[in-house]
Amino acid sequence: MSKEIGVAIIGCGYWGINYVRVFSELPNARVVVACDQRAERLHEVGQRFPGVVLTTHAEEAVKMKNVDAVVVCTTATTHFDIARRSILAEKPTLIEKPLTRTAAESEELVHLAELHGVLIMVGHTFIYNPAIERVKEYTQSDQLGQMYYLYARRTNLGPIRQDVNALWDLAPHDISIFNYWLDTKPDWVSAVGARVLGNGREDVGFVALGYPNGVVGHIHVSWADPNKVRELVVVGSKQRIVFDDINIQERVRVFEKGVTPIQTDSSNYGEFQLLMRDGDIISPRIAVSEPLKNECIHFLEAIEQGKQPKSGGKEGWEVVQVMEAIDRSVELHGAPVEVGLLHKAVGM
Ligand SMILES: NC(=O)c1ccc[n+]([C@@H]2O[C@H](COP(=O)([O-])OP(=O)(O)OC[C@H]3O[C@@H](n4cnc5c(N)ncnc54)[C@H](O)[C@@H]3O)[C@@H](O)[C@H]2O)c1
Repeated sequence: MSKEIGVAIIGCGYWGINYVRVFSELPNARVVVACDQRAERLHEVGQRFPGVVLTTHAEEAVKMKNVDAVVVCTTATTHFDIARRSILAEKPTLIEKPLTRTAAESEELVHLAELHGVLIMVGHTFIYNPAIERVKEYTQSDQLGQMYYLYARRTNLGPIRQDVNALWDLAPHDISIFNYWLDTKPDWVSAVGARVLGNGREDVGFVALGYPNGVVGHIHVSWADPNKVRELVVVGSKQRIVFDDINIQERVRVFEKGVTPIQTDSSNYGEFQLLMRDGDIISPRIAVSEPLKNECIHFLEAIEQGKQPKSGGKEGWEVVQVMEAIDRSVELHGAPVEVGLLHKAVGM
């Protein structure tokens, strides 16, 4: 039987307490320490999970002898410092999204982890969702046909964050999913933001993403929309696939419909006809499992088997590169900005 892995959870706010619960439920892990700066959060952990050591000092928690692995689930601005300490303590580290607030910080974490031979993983929870996995299978099979474009909507009334804007809060989910489905990152982005709630940060954002091979993506996020939507759509030449996280009966729907241009007269290059396909709407059966639990199991397996996680430091860094380019494009009122190349406006 494999050894029980002692886990430290740093940051036990709204999301972090879920990590305490999930790791407590897994047979090969044990939450040994929970850390938060807020006493009331530690009090709740203590009440629900007796036996877990409680502390307000992250730097001490990551160094504790019985801590074999660390989860960083604090506010985004603090990820870099805490993850850095954890890597220096040579502990495998799972860091919530976004990995860091700058691409330079992500790069530093990735290199530091390599230097110390420490596993790092980013909490791109959606890619551990079996429905997202199922859509990837469709996109990679011939059933979708040629991928034309994809789009995502993530709107709701809040919850409003004090440390990052709505783009940094919500878009990393959709970028991580798009990158996962396409196995690559975008070359450029063009983004606009609006500050409609008057709290000094973008609470609404619209982002266009240019992927290789002419595939275009679009993401709309909002903290100011009373209609809660969590939807991603892929449009291909043979199918349209919808992931709707709110529709628990039918998370994925496949519309076997599409349109393909076909050349009608080979002697005349200008002659094209549109071939319409109109088939069934399929709702595939997808076994239900909790994405966060799948993510935590994947982290433990990566530690035990010494394998690269699906969402490693590189994948987290790529999403942060896209986010930085989005920031720059918002500053430039939507001018296209290259991803990862010091965020030059395209054509400048
Ligand atoms: N993967 C997902 O689906 C998902 C969902 C929600 C949130 N998140 C991410 O999880 C992280 C936390 O989000 P949240 O909603 O729980 O926020 P939150 O504000 O509710 O909780 C953050 C907690 O971190 C604590 N904290 C901050 N700095 C600390 C430090 N230096 N040492 C110890 N504790 C510290 C705060 O006191 C707070 O309790 C964010 O990075 C967020 O983007 C991910």
